[in-house]
Amino acid sequence: MRFTIAIDGPAAAGKGTISRAVATAFKFQHLDTGLLYRAVGRRVLDGVPAIIAASTLRLRDIARNDLRTPEVSEAASKVAVNKDVRAALVQFQRDFAEREGGAVLDGRDIGTVICPGAEVKLFVTASDTARAHRRWLELRDAGHDVSEAVVLGDVRIRDTRDAERAEAPMVAADDAHVLDTSDMSIDEAVAAAVEIVRARMEKQT
Ligand code: C5P
Repeated sequence: MRFTIAIDGPAAAGKGTISRAVATAFKFQHLDTGLLYRAVGRRVLDGVPAIIAASTLRLRDIARNDLRTPEVSEAASKVAVNKDVRAALVQFQRDFAEREGGAVLDGRDIGTVICPGAEVKLFVTASDTARAHRRWLELRDAGHDVSEAVVLGDVRIRDTRDAERAEAPMVAADDAHVLDTSDMSIDEAVAAAVEIVRARMEKQT
C-alpha cells in the first residue's frame, strides 16, 4: 500500500513530534526533511559549496548528531533559499514518499511541491511566542545557554525567510488541514492529527 502524509509548518510548531507519533500509530516510515537542509547547512559551515553538499548528500550526513544547533538551523534556512539545492533534494524525498507501506514526511513544502498528491496534508502551526518557548525549553534541556528572547528573534527571522523565499515558500496547501497547536498539549495535537489520518484512511477502504 502507498499512502503519503505531508506535514508542513513553521519551526517548533510540533510537527516533528506529531509526525513521529502518526508514523508510529500507522506503522509508516517517517522522514524529517528538515534534516536534509540541516545536513547541507552543516556541510556548508564545514566549507563545502552548497550545491555540492546537496548533490552528494549521503544518509550518514543526516544521521549526524550535531544538526540541531541554532547555528545549523540558521545555515539550513539560508541554503534552503537556493533553487539548485532544493532541486537536488527533490527525488530523494519523492522516492521516500512513494515507498510501500506508507510514509510521513514533514517539512515546509511537502504538501505544495514535493507531494502535491499526498493523501493527507496537515499544516501544523502555533503562535511564534508559543513556538519560541518550546524551542527554548528543548535547547535548554540539551544544555544550550541561550535566552528565550534570542530564540524568539531567531524563530521570527527563520519564519520570514522560509515564508518569503521565491522557491517553494512555506505555505499551507489549499487542501491542507490546518492544526493550530498554540493552546493544545502535545497529546491533544497528536490525537487530532491521528484522527484526521484515520478518517481519510477509512474513506480509502
Ligand atoms: O524543520 P527544520 O527546522 O529542521 O528545518 C530547518 C530549515 O530547513 C527550515 O528553516 C527551512 O529553511 C528548511 N526546510 C525547507 N524545506 C523543508 C524542510 C526544511 O526549506 N521541506
